[in-house]
Amino acid sequence: MPKLVVVDHPLVQHKLSLMRRKETPTAEFRQLVKEIALLLGYEICRDLPLEDVDVETPLEMARVKMLAGKKLCLVSVLRAGNGLLEGMLDLIPSARVGHLGLYRDHVTLQPVEYFYKVPSDISERPVILVDPMLATANSAIAAVTKVKASGATDIKYACLLAAPEGVAKFHAAHPDVPVFTAAVDRGLNQQGYIMPGLGDAGDRIYGTR
Ligand code: PRP
Ligand code: URA
Repeated sequence: MPKLVVVDHPLVQHKLSLMRRKETPTAEFRQLVKEIALLLGYEICRDLPLEDVDVETPLEMARVKMLAGKKLCLVSVLRAGNGLLEGMLDLIPSARVGHLGLYRDHVTLQPVEYFYKVPSDISERPVILVDPMLATANSAIAAVTKVKASGATDIKYACLLAAPEGVAKFHAAHPDVPVFTAAVDRGLNQQGYIMPGLGDAGDRIYGTR
């Protein structure tokens, strides 16, 4: 069953609403992406496997829980994904990091790839793909296809905003990949922007427009 998790924690919703405001300046927008990423990451990591280990506290030996298995791999879909990546790395500092450069052609709304570098052992790691916007889902579908081609099997997709039609298309293409988002908006406009949305995430994070 395809899975969609809307992280509707009050702190996430409040920060997201601040981000939507068109007058929110670049520095504040970037800071808010980072803060929400941390909160999304907390939820996404809820089912990470644990193992029993022995530690010596100042008082006695204790059997306690620690994360099991290989370190996570975060894959950022450039360039807006880097905003989310920063916050997730604050939460999971030892994660490995991959980058996938994609931009959306404004006419065809198809993703154009320009860069790809991920850890060579990505197939052995849980992967979290990060990109703030899941609109038509063309970029998200291409990103998951790409990491699957590198051998990744345990994949989660994290975004800030999703469009319902994008989620449906994504789940049809990759039913095995759960989507975590802070909100599902009304839908897409003629230009493929999420409505009401927050505008162009990359431009707002980096102040390029
Ligand atoms: C944005 C966003 C996604 C994509 C989503 O990137 O970060 O990658 O659009 O749209 P889709 O679901 O219709 O494919 P953009 O192409 O604007 O590139 P940028 O991050 O470099 O600004
Ligand atoms: N990409 C964005 O940055 N914003 C949207 O609304 C859709 C795609």
